[in-house]
Amino acid sequence: MDWGMNNRLARIIPNETGRTVMLAVDHGYFLGPTGGLERPGETVAPLLPHADSLMLTRGVLRQCVDPTSRVPVVLRVSGGTSILSELSNEEITVSMEDAARLNVSAVALSIFVGSENERRTLANLASLVDQGEQYGIPVLAVTAVGKDMARDARYLGLCCRIAAELGARIVKTYYCEGFQDIVESCPVPIVIAGGKKIEERAALELAYNAVSCGAVGVDMGRNIFQSADPVGMIRAVRQVVHENKTADEAFEFLKESGSAVPQMAKRKRQKTGVRVPQKIRERRRRSVSAGRVR
Ligand code: R5P
Repeated sequence: MDWGMNNRLARIIPNETGRTVMLAVDHGYFLGPTGGLERPGETVAPLLPHADSLMLTRGVLRQCVDPTSRVPVVLRVSGGTSILSELSNEEITVSMEDAARLNVSAVALSIFVGSENERRTLANLASLVDQGEQYGIPVLAVTAVGKDMARDARYLGLCCRIAAELGARIVKTYYCEGFQDIVESCPVPIVIAGGKKIEERAALELAYNAVSCGAVGVDMGRNIFQSADPVGMIRAVRQVVHENKTADEAFEFLKESGSAVPQMAKRKRQKTGVRVPQKIRERRRRSVSAGRVR
C-alpha cells in the first residue's frame, strides 16, 4: 500500500491501540442546525483534544475549526439532500482536489443499500474509491439505513461487505444483535455510529459491545455533543474504546467528572423557520422510525 494511504489510515486508527474515537459533527449536511450543533465551532472546540479524528463537512471545517489543529479530518463528501427530500438521492459534493487541499485523512460518503438510489450511491462509492486511491486518501463508507430495511445483522452485514468489496478502507455502521458476524465477514475495519441520543450509560454500553465484538471504535456524534456533559462523555467513551473499561466503569467516571444526568438531556427543539408539509412530516417520521435521523 502506498505510504500516503498507510499514513492517513494510521492517523485515523492510531497504531498504539488499534482503536479510534472519531467525533462525528457532519449532521448539518442534511439536518441543518441540529440540536447541539447550532454553533459547530463552539461545540467542537472543547471536544477536539479528546477526539482521534473529526468527521465533518468542508463548510464547517473551513469556517469553524482552527486550522492549526492536528486532529485528523474525515471529510463528508456526499450530500445534496435534506430531511425535506429523499435522503438516498445523494451525489458526491466535494472534489478529491479540494479534499487534498484541506489535508484530510479520509473522505466519507453514505451508501443506501436497498433504497431506490442504491445503484447511484454504490456507484458514488466506487468512483470515490478510484479517486481516493489516486491521491492516497482512504474512503470511509457509511451504511445509511434504507427505508423499510431492518437494522439487523443480515442487512448491515450485506451493506458492510458490499462497501468493503467496492474498496472502502473503513466502514461505519450500526451496532446490532449478531454484530460479531458483521465484523467477521467484513475485511476492513468497522466503526459504529452512536445513533440517536440515548442515556449515557446505554451509549457507553453500545460502544463497549461494539468493540468487544471487534469494531475498531466509534464514530459518535449525538450521544457526545447532545450529552449534558459532552467533554465528560467523550472522555468516558475513550475509556471504553482505548482502555477496555466496562460501561459501568466509564459511566462512574462520567458521573464523577461532572454533570452526567441519567436521563436524556432535554433540549429545546430547533426552530428552522420552515413550515414542513404533512407528507414531508410523514416521510421524516418514517426516517426517524428507521433510525436514520432524529
Ligand atoms: C450520518 O450519516 C452522519 O454521518 C453522522 O455523522 C452519523 O450518523 C454519526 O453520528 P451519530 O453518532 O449521531 O449517529
